[in-house]
Amino acid sequence: MQLLYMNRAIELAKMGIGFVNPDPLVGVIVVKNGKIIAEGYHKGYGRFAAEVEAFNNAIEEVNGADIYINLEPDAEVIIAKGIRKVYIGMLHPKGKGRNVEIMRGAGIEVEVDILREECEELNEISIQYLSEGKPFVFTKWAMTLDGKLASKTGDSKWISGEESLRFVHHLRQRVAAIMVGENTVRLDDPLLTTRLEGVNISNPIRVILSRYGDIAMEAKVLKVDKYTKTIVIASNNISWEREKLLRERGVEVLKLKETNRRIDFNDIVQALGTRGIDSLYIEGGSEVLASAFEAGVVNKVYAAIAPKIIGGKNAVTPVGGSGIEKMRDAIVLKRVTHEIVGSEVIFKGYL
Ligand SMILES: NC(=O)c1ccc[n+]([C@@H]2O[C@H](COP(=O)([O-])OP(=O)(O)OC[C@H]3O[C@@H](n4cnc5c(N)ncnc54)[C@H](OP(=O)(O)O)[C@@H]3O)[C@@H](O)[C@H]2O)c1
Repeated sequence: MQLLYMNRAIELAKMGIGFVNPDPLVGVIVVKNGKIIAEGYHKGYGRFAAEVEAFNNAIEEVNGADIYINLEPDAEVIIAKGIRKVYIGMLHPKGKGRNVEIMRGAGIEVEVDILREECEELNEISIQYLSEGKPFVFTKWAMTLDGKLASKTGDSKWISGEESLRFVHHLRQRVAAIMVGENTVRLDDPLLTTRLEGVNISNPIRVILSRYGDIAMEAKVLKVDKYTKTIVIASNNISWEREKLLRERGVEVLKLKETNRRIDFNDIVQALGTRGIDSLYIEGGSEVLASAFEAGVVNKVYAAIAPKIIGGKNAVTPVGGSGIEKMRDAIVLKRVTHEIVGSEVIFKGYL
């Protein structure tokens, strides 16, 4: 029953996806005399904590009840409500057990680490952001079976099928920001918004890497409104005319130091973290991905492999740059899993 209840808390937590960043996703259920008397989840940044939501929704007095919550809660609220026992998925990345101690000190029974791995994956973004202040970095690309990101002419629409594209939109919903390079904007003119049916949509902030802001003014990513913001990460050497043109469009221009014709990804994640961006999804292309891997900022890789063969030795591969010389220097992913989505394999691993 414990696992069932914790799974339900995780499902509830997921209802906050897209709206809580940079807060963690939290879900709670309250059980009394073997019956669920309340459920709640954290609905959005700055809103009530999940446990408070649940207590407000209770159909009976919560005094003497047990709660199941995926993340260590605030002890004061639990004590004030007279909760008997607390089942916790994982400790809070900041307090790391401080609230557990307080609750135990107040005579409340506490059990931790229930479905801990699932709870940690659910909040992998917050675990990193709350402890290091840097966004959790995902990469996701779609490649052909012969390892290409696009054809020799730069055409990549569409390597992936519909089901796999839906996966991309779920990832866009989850993250605070999405990034592509200037060439991808030029060749694909992507919108980079979230398109999902049946859920409230949240668009990530679009981040375009372009040292001199050479982006066509009619590019879709430069159409900014209340729900779809864009940041161009440029070099300190961007011309003031270009910068002005972009700013007039409502685009934020974030200027960073340029070294050897590149902007260091360590500076990029630092600057985004300072702006409250807890997660970044790098969608491509090849040069941006290479630069991110070289700087060592990538945390998680998704790679979709489609059963298509396009050939062309000059067609771009997912990770460009100058590459390594010896296999012993390869980046080897950990905790690798895969799933079949439509006719594609989506491969997942951590760095
Ligand atoms: N299949 C997929 O999943 C997928 C996803 C995305 C893209 N794509 C494909 O990928 C291709 C484009 O890839 P690409 O490698 O040519 O270009 P890209 O990675 O999209 O853009 C590279 C450009 O970004 C700018 N940049 C600024 N700072 C950088 C930094 N630190 N690191 C790297 N770049 C930086 C540079 O332009 P400046 O020097 O002018 O600043 C650089 O030339 C397209 O054909 C597109 O269709 C495929």
